[in-house]
Amino acid sequence: MNWGEMLSRRARVEVDGELATILAGPPPGTLGMTGGFPNPATFATELLVEIAQRLVRDEPGIALQYTASEGIPSVREYLLERVEATQGRRPERAELGVTSGGMECIDLISRTLLDPGDAVVVEAPTYLGAIMAFARYQAELTGIGMDEHGMDVDQLEERLESGFKPKLVYVIPEYQNPSGRTLSLERRHALVDTCRRHGVLIFEDVAYRELSFGGDSLPTLWSIGPDVVLQAGTFSKVFCPGVRLGWAAGPAELVAQLAVAKQNTDQCAGALGQRMVEEYGRAGHFERALPSTRSLYATHWAALSKALDEHMPHGCAWSEPTGGMFTLLRMPESLDAIALRPAATEAGVAYVPGRPFYVTDDGANEMRLSFSALDEAQLAEAAKRLAGVIEAAVDFAGSRSS
Ligand SMILES: Cc1ncc(COP(=O)(O)O)c(C=O)c1O
Repeated sequence: MNWGEMLSRRARVEVDGELATILAGPPPGTLGMTGGFPNPATFATELLVEIAQRLVRDEPGIALQYTASEGIPSVREYLLERVEATQGRRPERAELGVTSGGMECIDLISRTLLDPGDAVVVEAPTYLGAIMAFARYQAELTGIGMDEHGMDVDQLEERLESGFKPKLVYVIPEYQNPSGRTLSLERRHALVDTCRRHGVLIFEDVAYRELSFGGDSLPTLWSIGPDVVLQAGTFSKVFCPGVRLGWAAGPAELVAQLAVAKQNTDQCAGALGQRMVEEYGRAGHFERALPSTRSLYATHWAALSKALDEHMPHGCAWSEPTGGMFTLLRMPESLDAIALRPAATEAGVAYVPGRPFYVTDDGANEMRLSFSALDEAQLAEAAKRLAGVIEAAVDFAGSRSS
């Protein structure tokens, strides 16, 4: 059988192999600054054993059963309360649905809204999984540049004013993947105003929002403009990605369509995971656990930041996240992070090259460094090793051009 010839047009769309590489984990023997994987120390294992055992024993008819595509009613009720508590605005019942995580929500919205050739705006750079999903639905992707305050909303406004009409604008407002940047309050309002005026949907991904180092947060785009924003939330980073669970909050008609689309994917998010999150949340464990999760990542960033300051050669610069798991490091223009990877593996350090996070050929001299998994001493060592690799490449490039 020639399976390649049998593939659908959608499956033949070329996708970057980088996401599969990230999910497979760093090469053996390296200090890995690759995945946006939560640190396992943040998993509440003992509590989860107790909760799962109780649910399976006492309510198998719910926890082990199929559920409505919109989610289990009590879970949806809990999510309404949690969204209100964390975002200061409560969705109507019809404005909230349960998903099997943030990535599924990206797929559901793509299925629901995108025809081949439709325009989609993303930040440049943006989450690789989202680029791949939109590309699979044959959308035309346009990147809008960023600075340390997030997406350049003026640039977007100019494009929209000139008649450009995307189906949606995908934004990760907090501790963005891969840049670590946060969209400023002023730009949040400007983005909502602009998109509302032009009738364009904002697709807000709040995957890292609750991981601020200091515990502070800005209003979500959805809370500012519930009429023009669909929000994808996930419990992967504050609970665990082993339970694939998230939510969609937005205009009721759209949320209803997502539930219809879900009937063609997994039909419903796993009931056991839904109930585990609800039980954990209702008992107040998010509030109890989040401060130590935040301080763990803050401590990790402090260690990495210090080591980058100490070791990185002249000509390198990096973003200064105030939460989350990532910084984006830029090397001198002449260097290429993909080409440097074998030398980095040899030196025992791993990162994710920046180029796949762009929808253009930009970002060749950038790399994403995740500080979630390694401890402080390992991060210091990883930065030192990486700096050595970059320094050697700078010297080599210099010797060739002189
Ligand atoms: C920005 C962003 N959105 C969504 C996801 C996927 O989250 P989930 O595990 O909920 O599918 C990730 C995962 O790394 C992410 O970085």
